[in-house]
Amino acid sequence: MTDPYLDSLSLQEEMPRLASQSRLIYLGLEEFLKRNIHHTVSVDNIVDLGSGPGILTSLIAKNFPNAKFTGVDRSKEMIQFSQISNPKIQWMLADARKLPLDDASLSFLQHSFFLLHLPEPLDVLHEIDRVLKPGGLVFFIEPLSEKNKADQAILDLMQAYYTHLSLHPESVHVEEQYFANKGYSLVASNDLSISAKGSDNEAVLSYPNILVGRMAAWSLLSHMGQLLNLRDLYGHCLEAYMSKKLNILEFSYAVRLYQKPA
Ligand SMILES: C[S@@+](CC[C@H](N)C(=O)[O-])C[C@H]1O[C@@H](n2cnc3c(N)ncnc32)[C@H](O)[C@@H]1O
Repeated sequence: MTDPYLDSLSLQEEMPRLASQSRLIYLGLEEFLKRNIHHTVSVDNIVDLGSGPGILTSLIAKNFPNAKFTGVDRSKEMIQFSQISNPKIQWMLADARKLPLDDASLSFLQHSFFLLHLPEPLDVLHEIDRVLKPGGLVFFIEPLSEKNKADQAILDLMQAYYTHLSLHPESVHVEEQYFANKGYSLVASNDLSISAKGSDNEAVLSYPNILVGRMAAWSLLSHMGQLLNLRDLYGHCLEAYMSKKLNILEFSYAVRLYQKPA
């Protein structure tokens, strides 16, 4: 299996970045879940697609103490890491394009920072629709790259990263269109942001905005410096950011909750 993302980045460095991204974004997700899920439906089993190191999976799982939770990823290393760090959740090594799950078997399915990795998102969207029960929920959080705000050099760096790793941030809109066409209802929707407008001592939630310090915001880009082709651009941006010649850094994320027709 080749995966431009996993093949290009050192997992030793990427795991802690995903862990800190998960903890930050969870500040907003927890509030979203509190406002929109707890009283709507009974959730008995949940699958997280492309669960990676499983940090966000385990944080979200805390909101559903009575549900059976399973994280699915096609990377053996990610699954092994997840099994060691959170043995209470079930971890499954599988490809989300062909899930070893029965039709209409799940009441809740989620994914985060996953769809942009798929060259053909429809393959996975058909699988989601197949395994979800009538009335089941789909919850996702994916980057909303066109709403990011940053100095132009940083926007160029992000775009170069997407291009270099063949990532598809526009897939989030394919997903929205797919569920609309299938008659799913949009139960709740919000765009979260993480911006460098806060303090490095503590991340603060001002829903739906998460305010962090300059260094914490930059850390969300740190993986881009690992790519040889981007080293010069990354180094130039980092230097200019450190010397405060570049100042604007705000990431946007689409958080959506859909319900399949009953
Ligand atoms: C950026 S990571 C996101 C991890 C996690 N969801 C998070 O929010 O931190 C993307 C993950 O998707 C997984 N992935 C990519 N394509 C996949 C597929 N077809 N089936 C299952 N997992 C896949 C990769 O192995 C990787 O762990």
